[in-house]
Amino acid sequence: MKIMVTGAAGYIGGTFCCEALKKHEVLGLDNFINSTEDNINKVHEAYSDFIFEEIDLANEIKNLKKIVSSYKPEIVVHFCGLKAVGESETNPSQYWKNNLFSTLNLLDSIDCESSKLIFSSSATVYGTSEIQPIKENTRLETTSVYGSTKLAQEILINDYARTKNLNSILLRYFNPVGAHEDKIIVEDFMKSPNNLMPRLVRVGLGMDEKLLIYGNDYPTNDGTGERDYIHISDLIEGHIAAINYKLSNDNIAVFNLGTGNKTSVLELINNFQKVNNIKINYEYASRRDGDVAICYANPNKANRELNWQAKLSLERMCKDSWDAVQKWI
Ligand code: WQD
Repeated sequence: MKIMVTGAAGYIGGTFCCEALKKHEVLGLDNFINSTEDNINKVHEAYSDFIFEEIDLANEIKNLKKIVSSYKPEIVVHFCGLKAVGESETNPSQYWKNNLFSTLNLLDSIDCESSKLIFSSSATVYGTSEIQPIKENTRLETTSVYGSTKLAQEILINDYARTKNLNSILLRYFNPVGAHEDKIIVEDFMKSPNNLMPRLVRVGLGMDEKLLIYGNDYPTNDGTGERDYIHISDLIEGHIAAINYKLSNDNIAVFNLGTGNKTSVLELINNFQKVNNIKINYEYASRRDGDVAICYANPNKANRELNWQAKLSLERMCKDSWDAVQKWI
């Protein structure tokens, strides 16, 4: 099959390309707003038939239409987008323009009748849901600019599924971490990451003196934020299952990709220290704008309908996150 991947230079997009290239043809697109060419070069070294085009989906619709009409993808996996909750609160304009226009331009460029769209959505569309664990039919309410842009993209895709017959699957990620088995792609830890795991890696490498824990006064077991961390290999398997999923006649389906387990910041730090036998210095700081206290998945619908189940443990997530980096420092 011909698969077009937007955001192919990113942590999740690049990892997906490595997996998809084992069986399919892949065309990757990226503008490097939130990534570097390194990942593209690494994927190319491992898979010489990988094709890549540098393009800004949000501002180059003419070029995008040309690429799509010549490649004719059967599957489009849309990863591209800015994705840091805290950062989105300080830069709403960039997040709205980049995330919304790239999706609108993509929808207006693909052949809705013959392509199937898999969209990288996020648990942040659930906001501060009282009901935990979260099901797909939980009320959608966003608490960050990032989450609002994700919800807006889902609404856009719903409209194209209904009015243009675009077969679409929305995958709502919880917290992807770790590295896939061949460790070609690692979550960026160099360009001042926002996420917890790459920040733990930086402290472990001595690049940062300590980790700041954003808030220890949340209504959780130990006061720190609780999330559903999922190994990126399990997440990518969820995408492969979605590619093979037969949509019913309403053209759209939504699935949570999570483990169904919640882990606090402190629990993750302790796990990371134990598994990798390193010390992580940390200090409590004030809460981060846009953060929710608790967010974890009820993954039963994906387990049942996608015949998919997250398998890899928190220990494996911590070990793979650390081991993968050793290969590239
Ligand atoms: C996790 C926890 C922080 C950094 C992520 C992605 C977002 C989306 C949803 C996919 C929180 C705490 C973090 C630090 C800390 N994923 N933390 N100190 O905010 O849940 O969002 O998942 O779409 O793209 O960003 O992930 O890793 O930033 O935070 O205490 O230096 O770690 O407060 O409780 P988050 P995160």
